[in-house]
Amino acid sequence: MNDTLKYTRVAMLLHWAAVVLVAALFAIGWTMTDLPKGPARGEMYALHKTIGITVFLLTLLRLGWRVRHRPPALPEAIPGWQRKLAHGVQHLFYLMLVVQPLLGYVSSSFTVHPTQYLGVRLPVWATPDPVLNKLFSGLHEVGAVLLLSLIGLHVLGAVSHLVREGSGLLRRMLPW
Ligand code: HEM
Ligand code: HEM
Repeated sequence: MNDTLKYTRVAMLLHWAAVVLVAALFAIGWTMTDLPKGPARGEMYALHKTIGITVFLLTLLRLGWRVRHRPPALPEAIPGWQRKLAHGVQHLFYLMLVVQPLLGYVSSSFTVHPTQYLGVRLPVWATPDPVLNKLFSGLHEVGAVLLLSLIGLHVLGAVSHLVREGSGLLRRMLPW
């Protein structure tokens, strides 16, 4: 494939790192809430928070990098509505990769468990409040469903192109 049609190595690295981390967040998020109270549950929550904050920081870095590096133009053959849908989903991805970790952090701030990141305790600015904790946990859950729907649409788009035109569009985001 012509190199001008492909994403750069940095864009690929940032994309696939986010995919792996977000997959881990879903896997941990869905299992940790069912664990019995105890050290294992605490460790899983701490790991979830650490990976979540990493995704937040990585997304800020990615957005900063992205404004100065335009993506390769989509092939001419792609119809207008598909371009609009793909771009809409990508914008919402960036929004959700910032908002979702913030909702998790705010929700955690209304509990007795302070949030730590790589051993550093983040500032405590709220007192435990079960009502606000429940509200933001609920929003964090809604955010997870929204993010999952975006992933579904995005992957469906990638796979539909794979089926119709071979690996062309997918290869834009693959290093080989
Ligand atoms: C992109 C980033 C994130 C994703 C995709 C994500 C995803 C999830 C998912 C799928 C769950 C399970 C929801 C359920 O109960 O069904 C969850 C729970 C949770 N997340 Fe996250 N999360 C992210 C970031 C964060 C961050 C940064 C924090 C805190 C600093 C956090 C704190 C929590 C907590 C405390 C729960 C448990 C809520 C409860 O007890 O009901 N999350 N997350
Ligand atoms: C957590 C899951 C995912 C997220 C958050 C995500 C996010 C994104 C974003 C934001 C872009 C736009 C990059 C830019 O131009 O700034 C993108 C592009 C792309 N993604 Fe994903 N993605 C995910 C999973 C996947 C998966 C599983 C596949 C493969 C099946 C995939 C294939 C692609 C491809 C091929 C492009 C380039 C589209 C084009 O040709 O313009 N993504 N993704």
